[in-house]
Amino acid sequence: MKTLSRIVIVLLLGALILSACGAKAPANKLEAIKSAGKMVVGTSADYAPFEYKDEQDNFVGFDMDLIREIGKRMGVEVEIQDMAFDSLVAAVEQGKVDVVIASMTETEERLEKVDFSTAYHYQKSSFLAATGSAITLAVPEEAANYKIGVQTGTTLDEWVTENLVDAGKMPAENVLRYERADQSILDLQAGRIDLVLTDAGPAKEYQTNGQAMVVLTEKLFDTGEAIALTKGEADLKAELDKIIQTLVDEGFVDQLAQQYGLE
Ligand code: ARG
Repeated sequence: MKTLSRIVIVLLLGALILSACGAKAPANKLEAIKSAGKMVVGTSADYAPFEYKDEQDNFVGFDMDLIREIGKRMGVEVEIQDMAFDSLVAAVEQGKVDVVIASMTETEERLEKVDFSTAYHYQKSSFLAATGSAITLAVPEEAANYKIGVQTGTTLDEWVTENLVDAGKMPAENVLRYERADQSILDLQAGRIDLVLTDAGPAKEYQTNGQAMVVLTEKLFDTGEAIALTKGEADLKAELDKIIQTLVDEGFVDQLAQQYGLE
């Protein structure tokens, strides 16, 4: 009896090894992620309260909590990779990361290169000035009278470039572009620029921390923040969309927004 069960075990193991060797390569990105047990996520951790590093160098914030919960529900681990915001779309295209979560707004231009999940958050845009500054803005276009800082390759960069510079309202040299969002706030404090245009969430955070002052908040875009993924990966998109919808329905997303002081 003992020998028999040993033989059975050996046979079963053999069958298992054979089937593993014969296993087909994953048919698509979703299968690849699931069989690796890990999703590689690109971000730009310079954007509290969405993605930033705490004192222990852990990636924290609204987006980080959200993507970890999504990973949990997919049954995979999440590995975060920090890079410059304007290299994130290329990182998805080149397969360096599986997805990107970086408070990234869906745009037509980006849609030519990557796909987006359903939006998980919407926000307005804010102009920041140094704390105590006398600058007031009645409309966004009045920003053309000042030196403006934006993060390179963002929708904010695009808005200033198209609506103020290309429209002939301000000289190109008065727009300063920063690879990391936090660098623009340092230059604002140092008086090298007069205004920073950024998303309303981070702007509020800077104001709360006493690092800068919100002078105008406006809706400049209709689309929301979403997860970017490789173009044409329908199964992965469907999985992300389904989980995001569930998290919205469960109130998880709202609760997270509240926790991070977002509207
Ligand atoms: N929402 C803007 C965009 O999509 C800015 C995002 C910047 N994100 C960041 N993690 N620095 O272009």
